[in-house]
Amino acid sequence: MNLCTNAGQAMEEDGGVLTVELGNVELDEFSASRYLDMDPGSYLRLTVSDTGHGIPPDIIAQIFDPYFTTKDIGEGTGLGLSVVHGIVKSHGGTIRVYSEPGKGSSFQVYLPVIEEAEKQEEESEGPVPTGSERILFIDDEETIADIGRQMLERLGYEVVAMTSSIEALELIKAQPEKFDLVITDMTMPHMTGDKLAQELMKIRPDIPIILCSGHGKRISEEKARDMGIRAFIMKPILKRAMAETVRKALGD
Ligand SMILES: Nc1ncnc2c1ncn2[C@@H]1O[C@H](COP(=O)(O)OP(=O)(O)OP(=O)(O)O)[C@@H](O)[C@H]1O
Ligand SMILES: [Mg+2]
Repeated sequence: MNLCTNAGQAMEEDGGVLTVELGNVELDEFSASRYLDMDPGSYLRLTVSDTGHGIPPDIIAQIFDPYFTTKDIGEGTGLGLSVVHGIVKSHGGTIRVYSEPGKGSSFQVYLPVIEEAEKQEEESEGPVPTGSERILFIDDEETIADIGRQMLERLGYEVVAMTSSIEALELIKAQPEKFDLVITDMTMPHMTGDKLAQELMKIRPDIPIILCSGHGKRISEEKARDMGIRAFIMKPILKRAMAETVRKALGD
């Protein structure tokens, strides 16, 4: 945020272009030690560039110092870049700046890629279960519907994502056998997840349903089980929890 705010402030008078890029870079022995004073290896590089007024060469060495600012009193504390520097360093990364007065500036953040943590987890807990059944995923927030669909597709499922519980009900009414499993959010406008589940089960009493809910919004498990809901999942939905809950609801 601070890198983008600084970039915006540098272009306040004449406007310009803010560019944010994220990419993978492999640093070999030579460039790692020579240019970045880092170990060779895989890094993520986040670049924030602007076409603003730039940084004069005589102050560029000081911009990461705490309380160094060229902004008016009350406008900048001068702490932004020192905080950025602290965050990047604490993750084992580094930050570089290039600037040409009158043309703009570019900040590059290098963060080391960590692969081991995930591997270890997979080894200790076994592989994430997959499947190929047809799933209807409903969440009124479009981004969550999208993430859910992507996550399930990567696990091998055939997925339709919807943001309206009313439309989801219409779809099942029209094609009751179209899905093997329904995953629905709890809190939604017009028709909540538990109500939708009840309506769906009137049409397909055997359909497995998973109810998702955020912290504190959980209806009692007992009540849900009485209603015929097979499983619960807590938001934010994590891949392993999703994969395992789906298999459980499908009767594995
Ligand atoms: N993109 C940029 N273009 C031009 N100058 C910059 C840019 N980013 C940082 N600077 C210079 O570095 C100084 C320090 O930046 P830093 O983010 O640490 O503090 P600040 O922006 O002045 O205050 P704060 O972040 O607390 O609002 C800025 O005052 C400015 O002179
Ligand atoms: Mg700042």
